[in-house]
Amino acid sequence: MRVEDLDGDLEGVLISAQELQTRLKQMAAKVDADYADKDLLVVGVLKGAVMVVADFVRALSIPVQMDWMAVSSYGSSTKSSGVVRILKDLDTDLGGRHVLIVEDILDSGLTLSWLLRNLRSRGTASVEVLTLLRKPDAMRTEVDVRYLGFDIPNDFVVGYGLDYAEKYRNLDCVAKLSPKVYEH
Ligand code: IMP
Ligand code: MG
Repeated sequence: MRVEDLDGDLEGVLISAQELQTRLKQMAAKVDADYADKDLLVVGVLKGAVMVVADFVRALSIPVQMDWMAVSSYGSSTKSSGVVRILKDLDTDLGGRHVLIVEDILDSGLTLSWLLRNLRSRGTASVEVLTLLRKPDAMRTEVDVRYLGFDIPNDFVVGYGLDYAEKYRNLDCVAKLSPKVYEH
């Protein structure tokens, strides 16, 4: 789905499909180098990170394993609370593993800092974070991001896995959602 298919709901493209792929390839090259002599487990956070993981792992030259987690952060539809619940846990035992968490977006950072603590408590060799997007608010939370795609303004964005009320995930780019869609 492209922006033209959604006329009216969106206020413009923030990051094009082409820009997303270019950046993911650059991030993959760094991960290739950093994990050249290590066994890497990529943990995608459902559902938002599905597109990021799919394109990122295919841009890698090293073989990796993949697993998925689904977490839910209580809060309103556009703000997270930091109270996190595991909806689907990993199938993989993390003991001694090098883990790379792949996220779609870091907003308050509350979800990811909880996830980092949770995975690190499982006896991992290392846990790092790759996030495609980061908002300014995240700078105030202590989340150590090893691989960052783009810093973006504090707008609500959709597409490339990111949703509003489960909609817009299959948009091929990242676009700003018109506030009239969520402000009543
Ligand atoms: P945090 O805990 O505030 O960092 O929120 C992270 C989660 O909130 C992300 O994984 C997304 O699911 C969701 N989120 C935050 N900002 C946006 C956005 O602009 N669009 C879509 N989802 C978002
Ligand atoms: Mg998410």
